Formats: sequence, C-alpha cells, structure tokens
Amino acid sequence: MIGDIIMTRQWGISTELIHDQHTTERKIGAVAQPIVPAVAYSFENHKMASDTVSGKEDGIYYGRYGNCTLRAFEEKMAALENGEAALGLGSGMAAISSTLFGVLQNGDHLIVTKDVYGGTYHFLTTLAPRCGISFSLVDCTDIDCIVKAIQPNTKAVYIETPSNPLLTILDIKAIAQVTKQYDLPLIVDNTFMSPCLQKPLELGADIVIHSATKYLNGHGDVMAGVIVADAKFIHFIRQQIMGDLGQVLSAWDAFLILRGLKTLGLRMERHCSNAHKIATFLENHPLVEKVYYPGLKSHPQYEIADRQMKGMGGIVSFEMKGGSATATAFIDALKLSMISFSLGDPETLVQHPATMTHSSLPETERLAAGITDGLIRLSAGLEDIEDIVADLEQAFDKVNELSKRNGVGTHA
Ligand SMILES: Cc1ncc(COP(=O)(O)O)c(C=O)c1O
Repeated sequence: MIGDIIMTRQWGISTELIHDQHTTERKIGAVAQPIVPAVAYSFENHKMASDTVSGKEDGIYYGRYGNCTLRAFEEKMAALENGEAALGLGSGMAAISSTLFGVLQNGDHLIVTKDVYGGTYHFLTTLAPRCGISFSLVDCTDIDCIVKAIQPNTKAVYIETPSNPLLTILDIKAIAQVTKQYDLPLIVDNTFMSPCLQKPLELGADIVIHSATKYLNGHGDVMAGVIVADAKFIHFIRQQIMGDLGQVLSAWDAFLILRGLKTLGLRMERHCSNAHKIATFLENHPLVEKVYYPGLKSHPQYEIADRQMKGMGGIVSFEMKGGSATATAFIDALKLSMISFSLGDPETLVQHPATMTHSSLPETERLAAGITDGLIRLSAGLEDIEDIVADLEQAFDKVNELSKRNGVGTHA
C-alpha cells in the first residue's frame, strides 16, 4: 500500500515527516525508529570492513562516525531538505564549526551576514583566527555589498535567514546567483525556519545547517546539529572533521529528534500563528518602539519573506522604549513565558540578546548590527495564544507602573 503511494505521488511535508519516502524496505516492522546504541559493528569478512572504512561501501563501522539511529535521522533530513546527504552532530555549533572548517583553511576568508547568531560570531572571532581564517561582516540585504566584500582568498558566503535575533530576511535565490557566479559555496543556517517553511537548497544554496536543538527536536531536551549538502562534502566532514573532533550525535538523541520531527509540521503551524498574533499585539503597544517579524507588512523584507518562506516562523523580536532597564524589567515581570537562551520549544521563551545570546559581540559591533539594549527576542511557544498575550500584557502593566513610580518617561 505505502509502496503504491510512494510511486504515484510526492508526499506533502507532514506525511514526509511521519513516513519514509526513501526507505524501500521496512527491515523489522517497527513503526517507531529503533534505538541502536551499538558502538562497534561486525563484518562478514575483511574486505567488507576495509571497503566500509575507505568509503567504497556505504556502511557504519564505528560509533564516532555514526550509528544506525543517527543514520535514519540523517536520511530523513537529507530527504526533507532535498539534499544528497546529511550529517548529524552533537550541537548546532558543531554543525557550523565543522562546515566552516570543511570549506575554509589557513589563509582563507569568509563573507558572513552581519547579524549572525552570537555563537557563530564567537567561533569566527576566537577559534577561526587561531586557524588563520578571516571574515567580513556584510549587509547581505544588499547584493552589491556582497560582491564588494569578495576578496581573492574568499572561499564561501555564510548567511542566516531569518537572522538571529533581528529577523532580517535575505534573498537566498538572489545571493545564490552571485555565489555561483564567483564559484563560492553558499551556506545557509536554516534553524529559524526548519524544512517545513524554507528549503534553501531548492533556492540555490549549497550547504544547509540547522541547530536541531531548536524546532527539529522541538522539546528542549536534546543538543544537536545537522548539515545537509552533497554526498562528497558530507563524507569529507564525517571522516575528516567530525571523526577527529568527536562531535557525533548519540543514538538516543537521534531517536528523540526523529520522534520530535513527526510533529514538526503541526508545531510549526502553531508557532507561526502564535508569533503572528504576538507581533500584531506588540506592534500596537505604546511601550514598544519597534517590532521585528517578517509576517508584518511593516517588515522591510516582507515581500521576500512572503515569496521565499512557507510561514513566517515562531520568533518575534521587539525593542522596548526605555532601553535595557525597561527590557530587563519586562522580562523579569513575565510569569508564563520563561527567560531562556534557547528557542523553538513548546514553552514561550524570552531573552535579552545584548546581555545573553549576543553578549560576545563588542558593544559597537552589536549596536552597528542593530542589537540594541532594549531588544528582546521572544520564541513563541505552543501555549494558548490568549494566555501568552495576557502574560505579556501584565508584564507591560508592571513596567508601566514601575516607570511611573520612578518618574522615567517611558510609561504609556
Ligand atoms: C540560528 C542559530 N544557529 C545555530 C545555533 C547554535 O545551536 P546549538 O545551541 O545547538 O549549538 C543557534 C543557537 O541558538 C541559533 O539560534
């Protein structure tokens, strides 16, 4: 039955998240993915073992290079992102650093979108220079800026869209046209979207990265990352980088993500609709200076977002009037939403980028990137929207009272 469906039509994303289009046989009949924690794998003869380690034969031979459960996750991610192959690793940063070590060597230069995730910035300013790798932060909303930033030793372009935390939308197709012209691989961090909402490889990107810690797993109980790219690159990273740095993802964690993926379609729908309602509420609040959400018509790249993304995502950032004091008083006053560094979980999570996720950026660079002291990033959870909005409302009221009491001119 399933075979007939596979042959006759392409599944929708929710079906694909739950079933395996690309699995031709169901080996043991288990409906849920079996967990295989084995580190060592045996071979019928020496030739099979040596062909597997040399890559002549595809297979799993030692736990530091992968395991069966992880392989199932990797195959699922390659299919979802429409890539040739995928590699699961122990965190999003492991995926980012391994990819960058895979494309860059001593003396090479990278072009990076200017409001990149704080951990990526930290890698580029600490580990990368120790390996002789340099980078330029570029306003990638302007294609000319990308072209102007290309140096003779530039070896790749790295973008995040929507970006963390300012939700800047970059035109993947337009950027890919330029990177192809200059023969530079385009790397896209697709964490904020998940393959449900955006498939960068279909838009011309070469490598896709996710922090699977976020939406893919979706339950806040696994650290993981994934790279999707062509099979040759993935093989290289698995054998030459992940194997040496030892960032493999365990079978237990791969199982949890596979379980989480089954509800990704449903979760993303709810994250998006809750975020949109929160953004609309915030846009009309007198204590809010500015709202960043690609689903709002006021967003500067609304048109690109509308064309490029299947949904506007679950993250809303906003700037409070009154800077750091009001922003931190506001998040302290929240009762339902939690102060947390992560995102993409069932719970609504808030954080203050200037002092939390992006604290590694020097103040001048942080402000130049638009990450002000009054900025708050909110990850819309899966709760009832009325409860999230009521929580925000009571926190605004508290800040308002505080401002009035202290005579600060930020109150509504
Ligand atoms: C956009 C983005 N990319 C990558 C990462 C890093 O992921 P991890 O924390 O799983 O290493 C994060 C973490 O917040 C992120 O927001």
